[in-house]
Amino acid sequence: MDRLQIEGGHRLDGSVQVAGAKNAALPILAASLLSDRDLVLGNLPAVTDVTAMLELLREFGVRIDGPRQGRLVLHATGIVNTEATWDIVRRMRASFLVLAPLVARFGHARISRPGGCSIGTRPVDLHLEALAALGASVETAGGVIDVTAPRAGGLQGGRINLAFPSVGATHTAMMAATAARGETEIVNCAREPEIVDVATCLARMGARIEGAGTHRIRVEGLTLWQPAEHMILPDRIEAGTYLIAAALTGGQVEVTGGRLEHLGGVCEVLDAAGVTVFPSDRGLIAERHGPLRSVDMTTGPFPAFPTDLQAQFMTLMTQAEGVSTIRETVFENRFMHVPELQRLGANIEHRGSVARVRGRSPLDGASVMATDLRASMCLVLAGLVARGWTTVNRVYHIDRGYEDVEGKLRRCGARIERRTGA
Ligand code: EPU
Repeated sequence: MDRLQIEGGHRLDGSVQVAGAKNAALPILAASLLSDRDLVLGNLPAVTDVTAMLELLREFGVRIDGPRQGRLVLHATGIVNTEATWDIVRRMRASFLVLAPLVARFGHARISRPGGCSIGTRPVDLHLEALAALGASVETAGGVIDVTAPRAGGLQGGRINLAFPSVGATHTAMMAATAARGETEIVNCAREPEIVDVATCLARMGARIEGAGTHRIRVEGLTLWQPAEHMILPDRIEAGTYLIAAALTGGQVEVTGGRLEHLGGVCEVLDAAGVTVFPSDRGLIAERHGPLRSVDMTTGPFPAFPTDLQAQFMTLMTQAEGVSTIRETVFENRFMHVPELQRLGANIEHRGSVARVRGRSPLDGASVMATDLRASMCLVLAGLVARGWTTVNRVYHIDRGYEDVEGKLRRCGARIERRTGA
């Protein structure tokens, strides 16, 4: 099992190229199942979650050509299977996103119910309610969810009112609605940039879809699919992670491909912490002026501070002057990194959904264990400022969502090595 070894105390300076967004790539790959026309995708990130989704699509019968000149071509003409088993869903929760396109196109799909994971229980009720609102019947037995469209004609357009602006349920609702008869209105939907990217790709594929990025999306169904080409948008969470890394080490890093409009809530909080983020010709530059200051932060759906940057921000606050209160409102259990940061010497009290970080803790390198993607990354960041060497074990978590993490950090001056084996 791979691990990363990091020697702390080296300032980051230079430039980092952001990859395509994992959380747009995964639903877009699932959306390829909707259409029998070719879908050409560029800027797919080289991360293992994308590899896993491509494997799943191949199992369904999707033919995948490439990559050629950075592009993959997906042909979903010969679908042979509409069932996603526990073995697949267990490995990657995002495989649940294939449910809606399969039901929309073939009128029926079976998928294992995903379990909880290290960040929360993560139910799928909102996805299923969205499908039911379009007339699907949903049956669950023995941990398997069976969804059937009302008749051969498929789903029927309707009104989907999401109780929470769930990112995944919004993807499900949009994809299902593209093949339904008539118009669908999705209310209280997620507004994340990844939703806009998925909607843009669906529109290129022929869908008539309006309002993505607002609270209300309208879809005119019965899409006439057409061949399409789409470039995945840059990963705002990866961009934010490197902005935080620059701030932490006191260096200046240009994050190529980063976009201010995707990181509004983050830049405001960083600004209050004494870190300026400004646009450059190619992306964003983070620069710190003087010591870091503690800031209180609450995660929330876009445009609030993203839960996917909460762990990395916590590492930043361990080095700030004063006490920072961090409140997690999206997932109920996303503080698994706290004990590992404490092992490095961080002074953090955690109760329920709130963590209080007392800053200016000198961190000491140690061997730490990661539990999920973002938690692992916050430990790598801590390693950049800890005394001596830090070993982050179970790097496979990072590889799920960060492309070439050690290469990107090393090119900015970090001392970081990947070790393979025992
Ligand atoms: N929720 C429900 N019922 C549902 C769906 C969600 O109660 O049917 C709850 C969840 O349990 C959670 C909250 O709603 O408490 C938000 O979940 P959401 O559905 O918005 O998240 P998701 O679609 O499962 C995506 C990203 C996550 C990211 C969240 C929030 C993908 C593949 N995953 O998950 O990314 O944290 O949105 O922005 O897009 C990551 O990249 O590290 C990651 C976990």
